Amino acid sequence: MLKKLVVAAVFLALGVALYLAIPQKAGASPSGNRAAGAEVHRANCAKCHGPGGKGDGPAGKLLKTKPADWTDKARMSKLSDSDLFNVIKGGGGAVGKSKLMPAWAGKLSDDQIHDVIAFIRSL
Ligand code: HEC
Repeated sequence: MLKKLVVAAVFLALGVALYLAIPQKAGASPSGNRAAGAEVHRANCAKCHGPGGKGDGPAGKLLKTKPADWTDKARMSKLSDSDLFNVIKGGGGAVGKSKLMPAWAGKLSDDQIHDVIAFIRSL
């Protein structure tokens, strides 16, 4: 009897662990909203990255390290969605790129970062 209870408890614990793991995985995949991302971009990123993401924003033009052209599919296909997520959240310095790219952790939520990635991928 006790053995059965222990087995049941183990399965319950595994079930709970699985349940907790699944939403986390879903959160890490880009399921962002493109329209909301366009707004995040306009408000926060366009001054450097340019209104159309070509790296030609008024401030971007003055930077020593220029932001990439997001419409360059060959270049952008080399970056995974998690690469984009990490550079946006942690800033250029966190991923060995230029510190001119600011960190958005604390300013944008993870959802907003997924939204802006959806926008970047749509260019
Ligand atoms: C102050 C100017 C500035 C702002 C504002 C800025 N960035 Fe950047 N960003 C840069 C620069 C410069 C780089 C290039 C870093 C490098 O290549 O070393 C960069 C790089 C990136 C990259 C890596 C690919 C690329 O373009 O080189 C992504 C993705 C990115 N930024 C997203 C964003 C997003 C999203 C926002 C708004 C939430 C944003 N950036 C706001 C300057 C900026």
